[in-house]
Amino acid sequence: MKDNYYFDNAATTWPKPEPVYEFMDSFFRSHGVNPGRSGHTLAIEAEQMIVSTRKMLARFFGFTGDPNRVVFTQNATDSLNMALNGLLQSGDHVIISKLDHNAVLRTINHLQRDQGVNVTSLEPNEYGLLDLEILESCITSKTKAVVLNHGSNVIGVVQDLKAIAAITQKNNVNLIVDTAQTAGVLPIDMSDGIDVLTFTGHKGLFGPMGIGGLIVADGVELSATRFGGTGVDSISAFQPETYPHRLEAGTVSIPGIAGLHAAQKWFAELGRSVSASSLDKRDHAAFCKAAMLHIHQTEMQHAQRVWDHLQAFDNVTLMGKRTANAEYVATLSFTVNEMAAMQMAEMLDGDYHICVRAGLHCAPAIHNTFDTVDAGGAIRISPGYFTEEKDTDHLLDALTEILK
Ligand SMILES: Cc1ncc(COP(=O)(O)O)c(C=O)c1O
Repeated sequence: MKDNYYFDNAATTWPKPEPVYEFMDSFFRSHGVNPGRSGHTLAIEAEQMIVSTRKMLARFFGFTGDPNRVVFTQNATDSLNMALNGLLQSGDHVIISKLDHNAVLRTINHLQRDQGVNVTSLEPNEYGLLDLEILESCITSKTKAVVLNHGSNVIGVVQDLKAIAAITQKNNVNLIVDTAQTAGVLPIDMSDGIDVLTFTGHKGLFGPMGIGGLIVADGVELSATRFGGTGVDSISAFQPETYPHRLEAGTVSIPGIAGLHAAQKWFAELGRSVSASSLDKRDHAAFCKAAMLHIHQTEMQHAQRVWDHLQAFDNVTLMGKRTANAEYVATLSFTVNEMAAMQMAEMLDGDYHICVRAGLHCAPAIHNTFDTVDAGGAIRISPGYFTEEKDTDHLLDALTEILK
């Protein structure tokens, strides 16, 4: 038996590609200085690495605007806080859904309670999909934004981003997309009609913890909700209006951005190795798309094996029906009759060295929808790109032993 069989990639991907560890270590040693603050050569070089990472991420997410509108934050939670608090004011109406993570739910609950923002929370159907007609019918003259959980961190269902963007564009409403579970796994294009895209660095983007970001489309203005040093225009009493400094206050994470930087190059390299050579050699986005397709297919093969295996047990209930009309990420959750989710997770960990996550997964509303709160939530299994065939074999054997 290995020391660990890791099936908790929806929480954070692990391990990371080797170049991510190497570049974080080497760049932090050679350029562990404060970028954008001091004018010396090392600080300028560190800043250049950040600028080039902004540019790579802009291309990765199909953003053709000013790369300075790619803003670094700590994680998706930080990005969503900045997007929601920076956009919504008293009297505004916002549409969210039961699929949302607490990064959205709690932020919105505070805005509702403390700022008088009005909220509609959409209930998905039995497949976990939002009804687009209902969504459109909820839009009023006061609706400022729709917040979209692109991929569910509990049931893995992916919403139809293009169709929802068509509705928000038609109705002149901002679309904020939480890509925590899809960035790096499915190609996402800002030009499809996304107004604010929020991402976290440590999941599908294969960076470390402590780095995330948001991309703010041209014409969308987020108010600053935190204030401080930017290294530019220090004489000004207020936060600069220009991006990224409007939103990026304080020293950014050089190790975090270096990790994302190396991960972006790794995506392009992987894409090169798996794709047709007819792609333009300089096309970062095209190579990254090829890599994502390959990563997604690899992960889904493992997830499908687990899904099919679990379906054979009468005492197992898988959360959310699946349909050929929807896309999924490699995350699934289930409950077991008369066994608390945590008990199952502890057995998998203690007896088989298998890491999964049990509970509500910071997404309590979707557990309410599927009636899994009383069982202590569900057991979530999320294979990753580095999961091997024999890891899944071991997981399936362990599940059989426990469930039969
Ligand atoms: C859908 C979704 N949104 C937001 C988050 C928050 O991400 P982070 O913890 O990196 O801020 C997560 C993390 O699990 C998530 O799955």
